[in-house]
Parts: sequence; structure tokens; C-alpha cells
Amino acid sequence: MKVDGKPYRTIWLTPNGTTVQVIDQTLLPHDFVVRDLDTVEDAELAIRTMIVRGAPLIGAAAAYGMALAIAEDPSDAMLERAYTLLLESRPTAVNLRWALDDMRALLSPLPPAKRRDAAYRRADEICDEDVEICRRIGQHGLVEIRRIAARKPSGATINALTHCNAGWLATVDWGTALSPIYQAHDAGIPIHVWVDETRPRNQGASLTAWELGKHGVPHTVIADNAGGHLMQHGKVDFCVVGSDRTTRRGDVCNKIGTYLKALAAHDNGVPFYVGLPYPTIDWTIEDGHRDIPIEERSARELSHMMGRTESGEMATVAVLPGGSPAANPAFDVTPARLVTGLITERGVCAASEAGLLSLYPEQSKAA
Ligand code: MRU
Repeated sequence: MKVDGKPYRTIWLTPNGTTVQVIDQTLLPHDFVVRDLDTVEDAELAIRTMIVRGAPLIGAAAAYGMALAIAEDPSDAMLERAYTLLLESRPTAVNLRWALDDMRALLSPLPPAKRRDAAYRRADEICDEDVEICRRIGQHGLVEIRRIAARKPSGATINALTHCNAGWLATVDWGTALSPIYQAHDAGIPIHVWVDETRPRNQGASLTAWELGKHGVPHTVIADNAGGHLMQHGKVDFCVVGSDRTTRRGDVCNKIGTYLKALAAHDNGVPFYVGLPYPTIDWTIEDGHRDIPIEERSARELSHMMGRTESGEMATVAVLPGGSPAANPAFDVTPARLVTGLITERGVCAASEAGLLSLYPEQSKAA
């Protein structure tokens, strides 16, 4: 997507063929800064501290992290060390494990002298594949948006609601949940997005609002608590969110607060869609509540907020009474029964094992 007219992806290789560059998402929307990742430790830090975040981008960064490790030392010992280091950087998004398994399976049988080039090549491919997958998610989601538009008076604005950031900043390009929205907007469909601010890290207010604005998509930021009220008043035509891990039965793990939006959508008859690429599906688990590790992040993300003061400086302020403890689970699980449809690169399916297997028959236990 474009930033001030210049096309960007969220992660890329510099012309020297070794250094990886990423957009520092901790500084958005106030500053647009590109950071170099030169070592596997840099990649791990970028994932852990959320310089890069969003399940597909975490996977892409991990793939390049493996390449950076192998460029430094192509030994088996380094391969294992890099795998473990990166795997522990964030626990919930399964794209991380998917990318690391993919890289290790490719590199491990190769003689060390051949590993460097193969690692960079595969990391590049993972990124290109993610772009194509997200483009297709957008195309399939666009069909659903056209269906919703057909039920409204001709030319009426369609109101979407999204939570967290599942746009191009969370992937390599296009986004998952936001790809259908970009494609609808580009096709001339009048669409407006209610953007949940998404406390405590504010990915909606800081990232989703920023990228929608840069692309010219009409949007309004709302407090996380406003969505249910808007749905009760008929102001939301559909919800669409991303996912960090979806089980083979269609339970959807996503940013904390997603579940509450799904409950409100269900109560109000508002369709609730999830956009996700195949590496987000964890075929090894069925029950999202039981089996998905939920990341617990620092209480400081709740107790303090960062922003730009009126005089233009960045500042961090405390918002809790000193001494009040805070708990910060970063994700929740929306049960499959609350999900209207999963929008994947292969099409839209019911959030169920049968639905997913209709699109991915190769994952059937009998196959
Ligand atoms: O903690 P984050 O910012 O990495 O969480 C991101 C989300 O929850 C996204 O909605 C999810 O990864 C889907 S991204 C396409």
C-alpha cells in the first residue's frame, strides 16, 4: 500500500541482500521510521517489542530472522538456537511457528554452505505468498460486501466495524480483515469503517486509523465500548476482524475484546466475519479455550499511555492510581458459533471443521 504516494510493504530486504528493514509500528501514527534488522536478535526484539506485530507479519519477520541467523552462522546449532529464540518471542500467533517450521524443514537437510541463499529465497517467497494470499482474501471478502450492499438502498454507505489492526501493517501487504475493505473502496463501493481503538496498545486508533487514512478510506475511531451501542442502532452492517490462531473447528483467537464484539454482533443479527490466511489455521487443535496459549503482557501497557503532547513532543503518562494492579491478557477466543464466515484465500466457509475442510480437504485426518 502507499504511504504519501510511495508504495511500501511492511518488511523488505535492502539491496545489499542481507539486511532486513521494517516499519517501526511502535512509533505510528506520529512518526514513520524504518528500522534495520541485522541479526536474529534484532528480529526477535522487533517481534517481542511489537516493532512488528500482526500474525502474518510476525511469521514473515521470523522467516527473515532465521535467514539472518544462518547468514551469520549456517551450522545446525545456530539453526536450532534461532528457531527456539524466535519461537519464544510471542506465544499466540501461530504463523510464527508455521514460518519457523517451514524454514527449518527446508534448511535442515541442506549442507551448511547452501543454507544462506536458500533461507533468504524462502523468506522472500513467504512474503510474496502472503501478499498474494491477502489479495485473494480481499477478493473473496469483496463478494460478501457486495452481497451486503445489495440489501441496502442503492448508493447507501456500508458501515463496517473492525477491531485491532488487521490491515496491511499486520501482514506484508493488503491485510486480512482490511483487504476486502480496501478492495471495496477501490471498486467505488461507498464504505465507512468504525475503528475500535483497541486498548491497551491502541492498534485500532494508532495503526488501523492511520493506514485507512493514508488510503483515503472514510473511518471513525470509537472507544472499544461503543460497538454494541452502534449495532443496536443499526449503524453497523458487518464486523470483520483478523485472527492470530484459528482452530480446526473454527474457534477464532484474536486481540482481546474481539469476543465481546462477536457477542454484540450475534445479539443484533450483524454478520461477523474473520479474514485469515492458511498459516493462521492451527490444524493440531480443536478447542480454542483449552488449547491456545494467551499472551499476558505487561501491566504497564494499561497503566501508562504514550502520545504526542500539544507542543509536539512524545510523552508517556500514567493513567491508573499508583498501586492499583492491572491484568493484561492480550487475546481472547471467539467460539465458532458466533462467527458468520471465515474469509480465506481459498474462499469463504463456515466456522466449523466441515467448513474449513471444504476449502482445505488435504487437512482431513483421513487424507
Ligand atoms: O498483538 P498484535 O498487535 O500482534 O495483535 C494483532 C491482532 O490481533 C490482529 O488482529 C491479528 O494478528 C490478525 S492480523 C492480520
